[in-house]
Amino acid sequence: MKIQAVRGMQDLLPEKQEIFSHIERCVGDVLATYGFREIGLPVLESTHLFQRLVGEATDIVEKEMYTFADRNGDSVTLRPEGTAGCVRAAQQHGLLFNQVQRLWYGGPMFRYERPQKGRYRQFAQIGVECFGMAGPDIEVELLYMLARIWKKLGIEGDVALEINSLGSTESRVAFRDALVSYLSKVEDDLDEDSRRRLVTNPLRILDSKDPGTRELLRGAPLLNDFLDQASKMHFDELRRGLDRIQQPYRVNPFIVRGLDYYNETVFEWVTDTLGSQGTVVGGGRYDGLVEHVGGKATPAVGFAIGVDRLALMLESGFQRPQEADIYVVSTGDGTRQAALLLAESVRDELPGLRVVVHCGEGKFKSQLKRADATGARLALILGEDELGRDAVSVKHLRDAGGQVTVSNSELNRYLTKVFPKE
Ligand code: HAM
Repeated sequence: MKIQAVRGMQDLLPEKQEIFSHIERCVGDVLATYGFREIGLPVLESTHLFQRLVGEATDIVEKEMYTFADRNGDSVTLRPEGTAGCVRAAQQHGLLFNQVQRLWYGGPMFRYERPQKGRYRQFAQIGVECFGMAGPDIEVELLYMLARIWKKLGIEGDVALEINSLGSTESRVAFRDALVSYLSKVEDDLDEDSRRRLVTNPLRILDSKDPGTRELLRGAPLLNDFLDQASKMHFDELRRGLDRIQQPYRVNPFIVRGLDYYNETVFEWVTDTLGSQGTVVGGGRYDGLVEHVGGKATPAVGFAIGVDRLALMLESGFQRPQEADIYVVSTGDGTRQAALLLAESVRDELPGLRVVVHCGEGKFKSQLKRADATGARLALILGEDELGRDAVSVKHLRDAGGQVTVSNSELNRYLTKVFPKE
């Protein structure tokens, strides 16, 4: 029987993993310059946490969670997102008591969705969560930070920002009533999912992809018209902040987000380069969540980047580093062990160079072929002859440098010339 990866779970082969690592490095560097600190969180949480914080009537909790009973019979869930766990951890360890926190985390999330390009059952997020700041300045800063990340990754022209305000809980309740009363009149013409949501989670109908429902929504009341004065001012200030750095954006009144915890500002960064799974970042404010885990009311806002989707965007133009700078070849008695020691001493003296030793079998010629295939500039050749003379042959693989024999005592100086320190 052939054993294969579970459906929807991606193996990241080295070519792909390099892009993921590149994204993580770039994003991590930018986050550090804004004073964010990394927090490590468990992949497994109690099921209750997500039911409570993400919301019972969301797609995630209704049908996408990997939930099972552990050996003790307790219901646990592989995290479908990171905000709930981060809020739990911050509250549990007293990070929220009269403090401001700028935190970030990265790692796998799990959702039982229908897999397709850009949508997987295990996928990676880099998430950012801020506590103790009522905004909108912090929201503006988060969006500035994302704009900087896009520049660093070289994709600023391929992503667009969409924002919306969900207002306060009270204004959302008023809007919800108006929406339900409008849609109830046309209930029979709604798609099946939306009919169900009319009872469980009417705001999510705004997210519907069904063409008939979308048509009906054209005449629906707009959340914007229900915002109170404070929410309007909050949103206007956010918009001014974006204008100040000439960050283009679109106000999209249909962004409600698939999770229940948001209030006031919500946003997404979208691309049209990925087909239907074009949202690369989702985020917003969630001031009520800390209370859900037993804490004091704490203003909070954050976002998560979908790393798999970014990786797809970067794939075509990605410049891969060479596998090796130096490849060590050996032939003859006693040269294998000497080759390993030679490589160790090069790594000691010239840290940062990638030195790959030919291990295992291989005729001289095929070792050199392999050296060439790694993209290495030099092959260091150790034969019995070189070993006897305390020397090594250096073969230039890329330029017309040919081959020279260099004594062991001169080797570091020679290599420093070929690979000058930057
Ligand atoms: P979300 O919108 O559910 O938000 O997910 C954020 C991002 O994760 C999406 O925009 C997308 O790029 C990526 N993503 C989601 N599902 C998949 C999937 N099945 N396959 C590949 N990528 C996916 C959250 O998770 C919130 N916790 C964000 C947040 C943090 N809000 C406040 N703080």
